[in-house]
Amino acid sequence: MSTIDYKETIPNNVNLSGDRRLQRALEKWQPAFLKWWDELGPEASANHEIFLRTAIDVSPKGWAHFDMVKMPEYRWGIFLAAEEEERKIGFGQHKGENAWQEVPGEYRSELRRLIVTQGDTEPASVEQQRLLGLTCPSLYDLRSLFQINVEEGRHLWAMVYLLHAYFGRDGREEAEEMLMRHAGDEDKPRILEAFNVPTKDWLSFFMFTFFQDRDGKFQLSSLAESGFDPLSRSCRFMLTEEAHHMFVGENGLGRVVLRSAQLSADNDTLEIQKYGGIPLPMIQKWMNFHFSICLDLFGQEKSTNAANFYTMGLKGRYMENKIDDDHLLENDSFLIPEFKNGKVMMNEVSALTSINERLRNDYRDDCQRGVDRWNKIISEAGIEYSLTLPHTAFNRNIGTFRNMYFTPEGRPISKEKFENQRNTWMPSAADREFVMSLMVPVTNPGEMAGWLTAPSRGIHGKDIGYEYVRLH
Ligand SMILES: [Fe+2]
Ligand SMILES: [Fe+2]
Repeated sequence: MSTIDYKETIPNNVNLSGDRRLQRALEKWQPAFLKWWDELGPEASANHEIFLRTAIDVSPKGWAHFDMVKMPEYRWGIFLAAEEEERKIGFGQHKGENAWQEVPGEYRSELRRLIVTQGDTEPASVEQQRLLGLTCPSLYDLRSLFQINVEEGRHLWAMVYLLHAYFGRDGREEAEEMLMRHAGDEDKPRILEAFNVPTKDWLSFFMFTFFQDRDGKFQLSSLAESGFDPLSRSCRFMLTEEAHHMFVGENGLGRVVLRSAQLSADNDTLEIQKYGGIPLPMIQKWMNFHFSICLDLFGQEKSTNAANFYTMGLKGRYMENKIDDDHLLENDSFLIPEFKNGKVMMNEVSALTSINERLRNDYRDDCQRGVDRWNKIISEAGIEYSLTLPHTAFNRNIGTFRNMYFTPEGRPISKEKFENQRNTWMPSAADREFVMSLMVPVTNPGEMAGWLTAPSRGIHGKDIGYEYVRLH
């Protein structure tokens, strides 16, 4: 079944009305979600009418319907990608067995942990981005922000559904906890550190959607390989929504980079603050920060947890079925970075324990493709400057390089030297203040803030001048 029933209180394609207990439990969670949205969702946005897409089907073509919607009335629902007949587990010790339609008892706590960790990031990002609507660079961008926010809310629904439907009482408790932890909260922070950092300006927002939503893509892709079929199907549909979030990041940054390169060319200097642009070296600093905190999201280079999740068949590798090996990895090796004799060297370890590192590498390659496109924009504008992803060891808080200090090029230095240079590598208070000073809301249809260019096309066939958000 792929059609979504919108007559239901909770739209879904999982035949929710066929399970009254589950339906009632989720209908009890729904007001708690709406209260959370009202308190910690996008600030002062409840009455805006927004040109939003809503899922109406889960087939790859034409799943979305566009309409002017107020966010509190958005139809958050539970949508799983279509069931694959006779789906088999593709890796680990259960490789070749039928995918599980119920949670295997022996893996219950591991699966719950994976779902909770993923689920926690979804409302976190909404909380992190809650003030951005007040300083949008255009209505087009405001719409993108709100679209992402409602979809992250829906991703929370996706994970909460799995908890309620398959994990009984502890699942319901975990679902409640999702609304109790908050991004940056001193007592009850979100689980992963990068999801506690506030996203105050739109340069940070585009960095977030490029780097952090891309982490989401890689996590969801490996969970989409899961032997637990309902998780796999949830993640597969979430990935179709995630693609738009990354598009917003890549295009947003491309537009900032283009404006910065143009201003640099016109004025023959990279120092373009006084012309109202964000200097390319400042964009580099934002990148150094966001990329490094996102690398931490992939966890330790060597991880027995990751190895276990793989062997158990719970979480695979990125594009697992396209990889040409035995999908058991018991005899394979992989290279991970280690710090030895004063430098970073590659060391061969078991492929099973280095699953995290492999995913981090895949992620880095994917990020690099975006950076290459921005560098092309810069060179086409006639500017000699290029953006570079910092070295893996730079500014890390998890894994081998934790509590060690490196330059963005990966050269080891003392803590003191690092602290002295910190503000030349990552956003300083003054940099943040400058970028914040550019964050003046632009709300006339078709108008754009001066620090970025207009997008090349509008949304869903509408032109750029369309009133994507009617402010109220
Ligand atoms: Fe998400
Ligand atoms: Fe996302």
